[in-house]
Amino acid sequence: MMNPNYKPLLQSYSFRSGVHLSNRIVMAPMTNWSSKPDGSVSDEEVQYYGRRSGQVGLVVTACAYVTPNGKGFHGEFGADRDEMIPSLQRLAAAIKAKGSKAVLQIFHGGRECPPELVPGGEVVSAGSVPSPNNPSLTPRALSNEEITSIIKDFGDATRRAIEAGYDGVEIHGANGYLIQQFFSPHSNTRDDQWGGNLVKRMTFPLAIVDEVKRVVAEHARDAFLIGYRFSPEEAETPGITMADTLELVEALSTKELDYIHVSLMDFWSKPRTGDELDRPRIELIKEKAADRVPVIGVGAIHSPEEALKAFETGIPLIALGRELIMDPDWVKKVEEGNESEINVTVEKDAQERLMIPDPLWNAIINTPGWFPVV
Ligand SMILES: Cc1cc2nc3c(=O)[nH]c(=O)nc-3n(C[C@H](O)[C@H](O)[C@H](O)COP(=O)(O)O)c2cc1C
Repeated sequence: MMNPNYKPLLQSYSFRSGVHLSNRIVMAPMTNWSSKPDGSVSDEEVQYYGRRSGQVGLVVTACAYVTPNGKGFHGEFGADRDEMIPSLQRLAAAIKAKGSKAVLQIFHGGRECPPELVPGGEVVSAGSVPSPNNPSLTPRALSNEEITSIIKDFGDATRRAIEAGYDGVEIHGANGYLIQQFFSPHSNTRDDQWGGNLVKRMTFPLAIVDEVKRVVAEHARDAFLIGYRFSPEEAETPGITMADTLELVEALSTKELDYIHVSLMDFWSKPRTGDELDRPRIELIKEKAADRVPVIGVGAIHSPEEALKAFETGIPLIALGRELIMDPDWVKKVEEGNESEINVTVEKDAQERLMIPDPLWNAIINTPGWFPVV
């Protein structure tokens, strides 16, 4: 029998758009490097999602590129052309058949794209500033026309998500990719309408939000949600500060989004910058968003006790990433009072049982410190 203390995790939830979740647990977006070279999803990937769907209220997919020069990973799937709709549809159907809602994460990799994945090997960004992850590659700054075209590509990918049967899209403004590159003073060295000060650095992210909203209003016949994910700070100087992020949260809070999603590896992490170094970032963000937009939190939440504690910050939804790769039955175990059996460590012979595609499995076992291994 379920421990009644955990009831808040399993209560239903309705978003502003009307999309309804059966509980408060979300599968975090996680790249799995397992799609086919043409950008269509593979059987292994569809099985992997099917195994993790049904118990959680919402599954956010791995990021999908909205345009060919935004492909950021080998084995990333595409939402960049109408021929991809059947592939997108397969994934949505696998998630929804089990009873979870399905949200497509839409993305452009910008300066983080490997040159061999983008047309002509030409890597683009907000400015011509190399990524700290690849100092020898100087991206080309996008032209005004190209920027306008990429904004439209996010809208077109949203239309494809609607046609493919998703319940929403999450705009990937986090983890150092193109949208964040526009918001960041590290990568955005422009002095036109897209950069030069904090307000202008928000122009591209907010234009994407507006375009996605426009497309949803025009094309969605059923409830369809829009979320936005961001990373609160950058390590570089100059880089995104906590104060910058609170301004972004302020702007996003007026956009009638279904949620904002803070990308963190540790839910309780504290700011590097600002006046309130002792309070977790999530608390500062929640305080700024207030009742205007719900916040999803994530990062190293392993047990239902930890999830309950996270709810005390006032956020309504918790995302689990690595935990659901390793234990797809996390929610069921809580529901049945078997939470002591939750096991988020990597067991070396578990790949087949957990239906994890080879590229994701190889990443897990070859990235020290990423997952606890037994
Ligand atoms: C294998 C892997 C792939 C990821 N891919 C994405 C992604 O495509 N989009 C994204 O926004 N975050 C991505 N993340 C970050 C996760 O969504 C999440 O924020 C992070 O894993 C922390 O949560 P956890 O401690 O519950 O795993 C990825 C994380 C992992 C481990």
